[in-house]
Amino acid sequence: MRDASPQTIYLKDYTPFGYVVEEVHLTFDLAPSATRVTSRIKFSPNPDATNKTFFLHGKNLSLIAAKIDGEAVKPKLTDEGLTCDVPNVPFTWEAEVQIDPAANTALEGLYLSNGMYCTQCEAEGFRKITYYPDRPDVMSTFSVRVNGPHPVLLSNGNPVASGDGWAEWHDPWPKPAYLFALVAGELVAHRDSFTTMEGRKVDLALYVRPGDEGKCAFGMQALKDSMKWDEDVYGRAYDLDVFNIVAVDDFNMGAMENKGLNIFNASAVLASPETSTDTNFERIEAIIAHEYFHNWTGNRITCRDWFQLCLKEGLTVFRDSQFTADMRSEPVKRISDVIDLRARQFPEDQGPLAHPVRPESFQEINNFYTATVYEKGAEVIRMLKTLVGDEGYSKALDLYFDRHDGDAATIEDWLKVFEDSTGRDLTQFKRWYSQAGTPRVAVTDSFDNGTYTLTFEQLTPPSAATPEPQAQVIPIAVGLLGPNGDEVLPTQVLELTKDSQSFNFPGLGAKPVPSILRGFSAPIVLEHTPDHAFLLAHDTDPFNRWEAARNLGKASLISAVTKGSAPDAKWLDGVAGLLIDDTLDPAYRAYCLALPGQSQLAADLHANGTTPDPDAIWDACESHRQALAQRASDALPDLYTRHQVHGPYAPDAEQSGQRALGNAALSLLTRLDSGDMAQAQFDGATNMTQQLAALAYLIRAGRGDAALAQFEAQWKHDRLVMDKWFGMQVIEAKPDDAADTAKALTKHTDFNWKNPNRFRATLGTFAAHHAGFHAKDGSGYTLLADWLIKLDPVNPQTTARMCSAFQTWRRYDAIRQSMIGKELERIASTPNLSRDTTEMITRIREG
Ligand code: BES
Ligand code: ZN
Repeated sequence: MRDASPQTIYLKDYTPFGYVVEEVHLTFDLAPSATRVTSRIKFSPNPDATNKTFFLHGKNLSLIAAKIDGEAVKPKLTDEGLTCDVPNVPFTWEAEVQIDPAANTALEGLYLSNGMYCTQCEAEGFRKITYYPDRPDVMSTFSVRVNGPHPVLLSNGNPVASGDGWAEWHDPWPKPAYLFALVAGELVAHRDSFTTMEGRKVDLALYVRPGDEGKCAFGMQALKDSMKWDEDVYGRAYDLDVFNIVAVDDFNMGAMENKGLNIFNASAVLASPETSTDTNFERIEAIIAHEYFHNWTGNRITCRDWFQLCLKEGLTVFRDSQFTADMRSEPVKRISDVIDLRARQFPEDQGPLAHPVRPESFQEINNFYTATVYEKGAEVIRMLKTLVGDEGYSKALDLYFDRHDGDAATIEDWLKVFEDSTGRDLTQFKRWYSQAGTPRVAVTDSFDNGTYTLTFEQLTPPSAATPEPQAQVIPIAVGLLGPNGDEVLPTQVLELTKDSQSFNFPGLGAKPVPSILRGFSAPIVLEHTPDHAFLLAHDTDPFNRWEAARNLGKASLISAVTKGSAPDAKWLDGVAGLLIDDTLDPAYRAYCLALPGQSQLAADLHANGTTPDPDAIWDACESHRQALAQRASDALPDLYTRHQVHGPYAPDAEQSGQRALGNAALSLLTRLDSGDMAQAQFDGATNMTQQLAALAYLIRAGRGDAALAQFEAQWKHDRLVMDKWFGMQVIEAKPDDAADTAKALTKHTDFNWKNPNRFRATLGTFAAHHAGFHAKDGSGYTLLADWLIKLDPVNPQTTARMCSAFQTWRRYDAIRQSMIGKELERIASTPNLSRDTTEMITRIREG
């Protein structure tokens, strides 16, 4: 049954649950279409709550029997749960329900994935398993018995006992229901162990399907590295005797931090050199770290309610980015985070889906696992750390863990530990949590009598979510360069708190060139047009040097689009110079070569009052890449040769940097030799990074057919590799062919559209092909809408997330807007559309 009128939930309406859960006992009798779940739960009245309604969430459950203190009761059932009269003293609730995991295609609650039982309970999936107060502030210990004919039967916490066809687990740490997990199936374990700084020996296991044993070693090492890092850097040790990770093929997200039993999308954990790219390895390392770090930031300290989601997600993203920076390269990680923030969070914050890092209302919480909550949430913590300093941050975090261990906490609690430990007033800073929109900061300067003055004006464009934005606290890291390129003032952090503010730098011999927002010290749009070529040549801040290259390239692309100008020689010269500067990290140089994304160029054009033409943007990018290939033609062959890795493959920063630059060179070379070198690399490749890059360039050069066929024959048996095969054809298609290519792929026998990875590899990738998706005839919009309509009844979460492809629709011309508008309307008027998709489409249309 679907909801007739979706309800809006408000942060301001929070009230505690009327009962405390003392302990939970669950028994599962597994059967594909008729699993029985028996619960025995001790409740007692909550002295802190006034509302004593006994309401338990429950969805798609068949209630077999319910008892209170052993006496049968007849609760009142609705689509959302049940209510029941209960005593005003401690009591035991017992219920038996039946559920149908085989029919659960939404992949929320208990479901079957290739014959394996698994669960996904965050945010509100536990209510599809049994009746329960399914809210994060209700925490309890769980004891679980699993009965089923499977060799592996797992749940949270420590193993208690097991025998043929059953296993018992006990989790001593009180947790909310969203962290519950169960896995059962024919799985094999890759085992290891880790001894914590407290001397606890922890058995580690990564459970995979038979055949995937060879793809476990890297994930296991990443887990051990994460455990060590959290001890070294945050002083946090693991707290159970076992830590299990399971890889599943069908999963809506990347991975989930269930206590002691993390469940991962196979794509986010399984890796081997032959089947995974360097980028895959880096992502896997980061996700393993992320989910592991949740053990403290999320599980030991959880969220009071879902409005506080950034409390765990923003902080944990910040922690995993620190980890990656430590394991690999800090500047390269910063650059890749900022690329991601601009590609995913900025459009959200500047469009109809804009919402604060801590939203104030929602209809479907699954729609708020957003780039704003996650990535902007992490940026806000990064700013906080910049403002209070490393020591202040570390003191505040110690206090946070001390004070709130075992709590379901709020953003107020989080900020209070910073105030109490550093003495800083964070009243104004808190606006970062409540205001939507990306602040724009304009810079002007002057030089008078040896004093240089920088003036900043901040303005956050008003939005439906925040009609009257106020000034934010913005840390702006600034350095000054002298006219000869020497740094005359090392990095200082200026604190912008007013709409307009000036800062003086006295005692200078000549007017300096400012390097502003070093390290991207705040998630803002900087409006400043300094001499980018000068900064590209001289800036000591690696981020800003990359930014200068990017700004030069962006300006050149924009004038190519708007005025038809040729690629700027300053950009060509500057980038060609960086390319051969062997003092620079190869990974960094590869980033300096990359052009800004086409969707971002569209956003920039739109912000400057020009309606973006996707075909013109595509053409400008092509001509710029061609010009760069020609400009660097003398250096490229040697650059390519020198960045081939000899010896055994390692997915570390060093080698992957080499391959990134080698492949960037090959990509340009393919424009000069029409693909001969790419063909040679493809033919001789011994790892996926080299093979896939070569395949991409061959397709781009119009000679990919043989390689695609060979790739398919080689990798037909490997789902994760075939996802790449699907995605690659779409992303490398010419704009006019992209929709047809994607459509043809949806007819391929291996297109399992119910598998989220395959659906995303094909249609998600298509939506990311800017010029293809926005093809003039509207075919791209229709194709995506057709598939969203088809997927919605099967998997609302994955459908709703992909609706964001339409969030930028107001940027485009009237004809495209009208075509998109019609598709949005068609989706909206689909009978029985899910609450998830309804909310997304409504917000996109109305915002
Ligand atoms: N808690 C989330 C997983 C999740 C998200 C569950 C939404 C239910 C709904 C997990 O910690 C997470 O954030 N995973 C990310 C990856 C991470 C590296 C940012 C994901 O799955 O994309
Ligand atoms: Zn997370």
